[in-house]
Amino acid sequence: MSKAGASKKDTTKASSEAAASASISVGDFAEDLPVYSGTMGPQVIDVSKLYTDTDYFTYDPGFTSTASCASKITFIDGDKGLLLYRGYPIDQLAEFGNYLETCHLLLYGELPNEAENKDFIQRVTRHTMIHEQMNRFFTGFRRDAHPMAVMVGSVGALSAFYHDSTDISDPVQRDIASIRMIAKMPTMAAMAYKYSIGQPFIYPRNDLDYAANFLSMCFAVPCEPFQVNPVLARAMDRIFILHADHEQNASTSTVRLAGSSGANPFACISAGIACLWGPAHGGANEAALDMLEQIGTIDRIPEFIARAKDKNDPFRLMGFGHRVYKNYDPRARIMQKTCHEVLNETGSDHDPTLPVAMELEKIALEDEYFVSRKLYPNVDFYSGITLRALGFPRTMFTVLFALARTVGWIAQWKEMIEDPDQRIGRPRQLYTGPVMRSYAEIDQR
Ligand code: CMC
Repeated sequence: MSKAGASKKDTTKASSEAAASASISVGDFAEDLPVYSGTMGPQVIDVSKLYTDTDYFTYDPGFTSTASCASKITFIDGDKGLLLYRGYPIDQLAEFGNYLETCHLLLYGELPNEAENKDFIQRVTRHTMIHEQMNRFFTGFRRDAHPMAVMVGSVGALSAFYHDSTDISDPVQRDIASIRMIAKMPTMAAMAYKYSIGQPFIYPRNDLDYAANFLSMCFAVPCEPFQVNPVLARAMDRIFILHADHEQNASTSTVRLAGSSGANPFACISAGIACLWGPAHGGANEAALDMLEQIGTIDRIPEFIARAKDKNDPFRLMGFGHRVYKNYDPRARIMQKTCHEVLNETGSDHDPTLPVAMELEKIALEDEYFVSRKLYPNVDFYSGITLRALGFPRTMFTVLFALARTVGWIAQWKEMIEDPDQRIGRPRQLYTGPVMRSYAEIDQR
């Protein structure tokens, strides 16, 4: 029996009509719950009416069994190690495509044809500069500030500079804000870097492509010409593609949750950057390189493997394991290849961390502890070595991740806003605190 008077008629939204139902019985209640199928991946049981109908919540800390939304953007099959953007495998996009094409795909659902591509590049390129007064915002930070702190603050501050694209109910303004975010993130990331090393900001060069322009803004100086190395620009572009979206991960869910209240997109992306900063998420590339350096030589690997397995030691193999991938992270393979290309090109192929990384990977992939837990290298395992060879200090690694992920955040935010069933996100809880009690005067406590 359902809770008195509760309606079971509408089945809320999902990617398709209810194809089946699941039964739940708990206490006095028995309930049929609709089951929906997506185009790929596990079916979902719609529990959205469970509380209204039965007085029970579901409990899923860490959301390991919860689909928080329906989405058409990115698909991951963690067991097979498959990652698709709008249906296209990540390895094909990374090998044959480029980042701006990928941005178009994520934002609008399709790879651009020639005319659309030209138009999209033009639209992004004419938004690469940021309001000149933002310079003062940057210089207000201490020079030793972590660039992620600078990014959280300055990206949030964009909402104070671009009032004409913060009305989220207007599709034109939403589109302009999306393009602005994609266009301005490289400029802001480069400014955060230049400020930290005391060099003048370098203005964007719209004659260069997206990745080459970013490298120029980071590594050019005003007193001499700067030639972008095309191999490194291609590698940078590919790294951006690999990080462009990753379904409903922690930072993306943060952006969606922040956006669900109607907050403007600049503020939402700033919230996503804050979430990405953590070492269990975007900060892992920095931590992975620290770890490889700490290991130092191949003979010390067993010591660190033993520490990673020791439950009394908080040490984990950084760049290993993933909430969703229980197979080799498909991004890690491409990153490993890119790592070799960049190290060859920059003459850093003698980098002592590379053999340590390769041997560590080999040993861990054969070790029962890692095998039984399905712990494989993730995208961050090789990205630190690669980014360092490209010339970036490690404090910039997560900033580069944020730059690349901005399109994913924005595409997911837009999808949510454009969903007619969208409501403010408001999870509930299993309360375990004190039951109601009365206020006691201070001398009575
Ligand atoms: N080293 C050693 N043991 C590990 C590791 C690791 N890197 N990752 C997981 N485990 C163990 C963990 O101790 C647990 O063992 P047991 O079952 O005996 O208690 C088991 O594997 C399952 O781990 P979990 O913590 O329940 O898994 P999770 O899904 O909550 O965590 C993770 C996923 C990525 C946070 C975790 O694997 C981790 O901390 N990895 C290192 C950090 C890292 O590389 N993060 C980057 C993720 S990819 C980039 C991104 O998307 O942001």
